[in-house]
Amino acid sequence: MLIFRSSRNGLCNLHRTYWLRPMAWSIHPPASLAWTSFYSHGTWNSTYSRRHRLLVAAGAGLGIGTIFAYGDYRRRAAEMEPSESTPGSPFPVFTRQEVSRHHTEANRVWVTYGSDVFDVTDFLDLHPGGKSKILLAAGGALEPFWALYAMHNQEHVLEILRGYKVGELSPEEPPQPTPGDPYAEDPPRHPALKVNTLKPFNAEPPSELIAENYLTPNQLFFKRNHLPVPVVDPAAYRLCVQNHNGRMLSLSLQDLKRKFSKHEVIATLQCAGNRRAEMNALKNTNRLGWDIGAISTACWGGVRLRDVLIHAGYKPSDEGHVCFEGLDRDPSGTVYGASIPFKKAISVEGDVLLAYEMNGEELPRDHGFPLRVVVPGVVGARHVKWLAQITVGPEESKSHWQRRDYKGFGPSVTWDTVDFSKAPAIQEMPVQSAITEPSPNTSVTPGELTVKGYAWSGGGQSIIRVDVSLDGGKTWHEAELLGEKQLPGQAWAWKLWQLKTSVPPGTKELNIICKTVDTNYNEQGDSVAPIWNILGVLNNAWHRVRVHVDEE
Ligand code: MTE
Repeated sequence: MLIFRSSRNGLCNLHRTYWLRPMAWSIHPPASLAWTSFYSHGTWNSTYSRRHRLLVAAGAGLGIGTIFAYGDYRRRAAEMEPSESTPGSPFPVFTRQEVSRHHTEANRVWVTYGSDVFDVTDFLDLHPGGKSKILLAAGGALEPFWALYAMHNQEHVLEILRGYKVGELSPEEPPQPTPGDPYAEDPPRHPALKVNTLKPFNAEPPSELIAENYLTPNQLFFKRNHLPVPVVDPAAYRLCVQNHNGRMLSLSLQDLKRKFSKHEVIATLQCAGNRRAEMNALKNTNRLGWDIGAISTACWGGVRLRDVLIHAGYKPSDEGHVCFEGLDRDPSGTVYGASIPFKKAISVEGDVLLAYEMNGEELPRDHGFPLRVVVPGVVGARHVKWLAQITVGPEESKSHWQRRDYKGFGPSVTWDTVDFSKAPAIQEMPVQSAITEPSPNTSVTPGELTVKGYAWSGGGQSIIRVDVSLDGGKTWHEAELLGEKQLPGQAWAWKLWQLKTSVPPGTKELNIICKTVDTNYNEQGDSVAPIWNILGVLNNAWHRVRVHVDEE
């Protein structure tokens, strides 16, 4: 049955597809979608949960899937207490006041979106950002929250929501006022950046610009934000540091600059999701599809975290974890947080900085103004921006991004079987390299060709070699390594590399591959499939680029 009705809010397609839903449910039950980890990488994963797959399989086996699903819908709708039905509408109609009574699990949790009413009680435990977050909207509109977490505004998220529709708002209800844009104060950005998501802002430099500079210009440095960029008054800014006796020290920017000596460290920062696009191409993780540019290098200037910890009474022999919190927070007060082992934080060789400068300039707003943590050799997620607080304790940060994201799993782990407590939080990153030029699917001419790229390894391990093949791995050439020398064990920055070669006449296509080796002889694996994982992190497979060769 297809019933088309016009809609006041542009969700008319929503009504239309909903009415196909009872049939479709026997194959794709909407309630079976486990929404996973939108916090982590800003998108939703629509993986089916085991529970619901079983349900559907059972229904299909008995040949009653359609009836079962439709019956379930009728039951849910019948449990409602509608004010009055809109003529011709199959859905009951409610006032906002009636919806607002459904703000607890005991009374079923309802939310509105546009002019539709949804009962999301059965979804609470599946919400990627946690139950507490979705409960913030209980009994009211989703719009103010989706304005903040703009990644919800995607067709596959709306499709999941449609499965929970139980009614419509009364046509007499005034429309929900458009919420203010929480991202209105975000800074301007360089137009060359390849934008992954605008709100929050996630973008990377185009591949052909990545290896143009050893130090990435600030404007082109990749940007990875989970929330709006906070507006910070540097004069009022205070860093809170828990001292050895548990009391809080408050340090202004001036205090930091006057009391501690300035250090500079050249370090590469790489997001765990760098090169996720290649994983997504294999099997979509529904998380940000970073290309090869979620990696950049800067000269960071600031004070040593070690000096601040010693000032706060800690001794190098202390143990535990140093936890950081940022100033970026969501409406529930949740702030971005992460932690690193105390051992790394206190080590002289660890070079962990509280940075207020980036490439000789004041730290830009997108990169954490006025102060951020820089943890050389460690995954980007631990380099907390807009640093507000430092605490030391026996446990890792309780933050979502420490405990339920940025962890590595094997390819066999699914959203049904994942146990976040089993995998350690990613700290030091594995060896990595990529080809920045030529770009995939472009054309080169026979004759001279320069292949360029970057190579880097976590934990301060130096890059000792980059191997490049032009024929899909049959023969190999050693690339020339460029970039500054760094101390063994403290090689925090990438090596840029190039291979000057020639394309023999008659060649139609080049199948370029690069792979690198670090000082521990750690090498990259040759393909993505064996390392694919549900979070789409830690892709360090050989990088492959195919280009056409123009005829002479
Ligand atoms: N710190 C805060 N406060 N909020 C964030 O969203 N993102 C983290 C980290 N620090 C983040 C943060 C992640 S996942 C990465 S990869 C790096 O910042 C990115 O740093 P950049 O934007 O300066 O490149």
